[in-house]
Amino acid sequence: EFKKSGIISPQRMRAVDINAMELGVSAAALMESAGKSLALCAEKYAPSDVLVLCGGGKNGGDGFVAARYLAGSSTVHVIYPHDSRHSPESRTNLKALSHSGAYLYPVRCPEDVSGLSYLFSSADIIIDAILGTGLSGELREPYKTFVALANKSGALIISADIPTPGIHADTICAFHRPKQEGCDIFNIGIPLEAEICTGKGDLTLISRKKKDAHKGEGGRVLVIGGGPYQGAPYLAALSALRAGADIVRIATPNLMQYPDLIIEKLDGKFITDEHTEKLIELAKASDSVVTGCGLGDKSHNVISDIAPYCRKAVFDADALRTPIIKAGECIYTPHSGEFERMSGINLSSSLYERALCLRDFAKENGGTFILKGNTDIITDGDNVRFNKSGSPAMTKGGTGDVLAGLCGALLCRLSSFDAACIASYVNGCAGEIASEKSGDGIFASDVIENIAQVIYKENQ
Ligand code: APR
Repeated sequence: EFKKSGIISPQRMRAVDINAMELGVSAAALMESAGKSLALCAEKYAPSDVLVLCGGGKNGGDGFVAARYLAGSSTVHVIYPHDSRHSPESRTNLKALSHSGAYLYPVRCPEDVSGLSYLFSSADIIIDAILGTGLSGELREPYKTFVALANKSGALIISADIPTPGIHADTICAFHRPKQEGCDIFNIGIPLEAEICTGKGDLTLISRKKKDAHKGEGGRVLVIGGGPYQGAPYLAALSALRAGADIVRIATPNLMQYPDLIIEKLDGKFITDEHTEKLIELAKASDSVVTGCGLGDKSHNVISDIAPYCRKAVFDADALRTPIIKAGECIYTPHSGEFERMSGINLSSSLYERALCLRDFAKENGGTFILKGNTDIITDGDNVRFNKSGSPAMTKGGTGDVLAGLCGALLCRLSSFDAACIASYVNGCAGEIASEKSGDGIFASDVIENIAQVIYKENQ
């Protein structure tokens, strides 16, 4: 029900590949399946002379595998860059290929490729295994020459996974899911959970800051909360900082000393209508606004007034008492009780039923939801994902605030659905690390301390 079949972005596909490997399907197994599919696709044409063009990445490795299969029945020539740092799986497959009867041509420069132009003219099939999901920027040499000669050859061109830019592919042999229209799709054995559950691969969607990054690019987050529960907005704010936000501001009636945060002290003990104007001004200057943490049950009307001025927003805890606001990109983070209150729906105890119900509600009302639980359910009304990371030790006050802060920071840099999925995953992983050390004695603050490690150290 929750499995998708349409076009997937190359970036998301890379995440799914990594998730599959984390679930135990080795990179070598994926390459073998992909390469075998590619060979099957070519065999349909019963070629006598096949030229395989391989790049230095794993797409090239798929080409080496396909060439090994095809060498049993056709004459196979393989051109690949001599100096590439092939992945270990590609190297292993190149070695196996060298014993398969195929002819190998390592090339150092575009001239070497031009010197092999006769191979392009004699081929009846050319396999383009030059570049796949790893493409970045403009195509460089020697691949430009590969593409130019292939297009001139008159051979039938089969592209592996994604056509290399500029190549005139006749057939595209896509692995797992299509990355564009008009592909033949091959199942390469990626487990279902690699796609419908969050995983380490999802972290690759968070791009690292560039060398010339300036202050603010990582996001400006505003946390509005506090009143009856004073620490909650601080937990959300510190979590947002650890998740990579550049500037985090708190608008709260409760003053606490934290040198890393900018604190906008609001008069009085609670957030009231008096503060609306100031909060709107602060919200307009922020990339995302996290609301609800520690707010209590008397201030949500203020949140309703501010919400339309937020570019992106996270609604947690008592902010979930406001009616659903559809403006901008929003994440709602209810636990089941809060969801039942806001929707008037009684949730089933079955995870599957809950997911269906949450998806329909999100579709009808807009926004992305994280239904917090033992397994979190994340949906934007179209996509559904499950998050299994976490530990029972996390049933502690404050961990929800940590999740809201994570959502706020990631929302500055990602779509609401990706931000929600990654926030849920990172929160759980950070909690697991904390509870490995402290068991059930963890604090929400301990979870915060492990966020940066999960996102930035493990995502190298
Ligand atoms: N020009 C030349 N080389 C490039 C360019 C470019 N514009 N962009 C990236 N590269 C190089 C990178 O240096 C990297 O080594 O290409 C390599 C990445 O190539 P891919 O094979 O596309 O990516 P990779 O992640 O290794 O493999 C993904 O493997 O799962 C299979 O075929 C499937 O498409 C998928 C591929």
